Amino acid sequence: MGRTLDIAVFGSGRGSNFQAILDAIQQGRIPGARICLVVSNNARAGILEIARSSGVPAEHLSEKAFASETAFVDYLLATLRKHSANFIVLAGYMKRLHQRIIEAYRNRIINIHPALLPRYGGQGMYGMHVHEAVIAARERFSGATVHVVDEQYDHGRIILQRRIPVSPDDSSESLAAKVLKIEHELYPEAIRMFAEGNVEITDNDVAVHY
Ligand code: GAR
Repeated sequence: MGRTLDIAVFGSGRGSNFQAILDAIQQGRIPGARICLVVSNNARAGILEIARSSGVPAEHLSEKAFASETAFVDYLLATLRKHSANFIVLAGYMKRLHQRIIEAYRNRIINIHPALLPRYGGQGMYGMHVHEAVIAARERFSGATVHVVDEQYDHGRIILQRRIPVSPDDSSESLAAKVLKIEHELYPEAIRMFAEGNVEITDNDVAVHY
């Protein structure tokens, strides 16, 4: 890429993936990347607390506080520009990204999903719902997927995926914990691939060199 990856992280909850990414950056495992901003739609989200206590700029931005969707998206885009964000990482962000954000950051937005996409993805498949569906279907494997975000839920180009076995006595909770552990390894790795230029990004395409 030839320039720093200035990352805005979006999240709605706990923020453990953000913490894992922050740790990786602070430990020098992702050279050329920094987190310039954390955005959350939820004022009480753990991700905002982690950001504030780590000295990362953090904004609670909820569409409800704006007169219109347009005003909200204008403000969000201006905030991203103000912090010089050139890359967006979704880490447990439970809101749909507006079309104008996807266009402004085309192929520069990634998401982590707690399953082996394209299976167990799509609308309504998030968080514990995913693990409950995997357990109900008695799948032998699950895992985590990092993918580029496009207009369709959980649909864009897959960057990295890791598989883990589901044991017959796993509950959705125990499976969630196992998958989360994998996520914490996979997400920093995927970001490192972008930071090192192993993913070539253009407005039309994403080329991955493994
Ligand atoms: C993670 O398991 C992530 O994969 C999932 O939300 C959790 C966030 O945890 N995301 C989705 O389900 C998106 N469809 P965290 O706040 O501790 O990082």
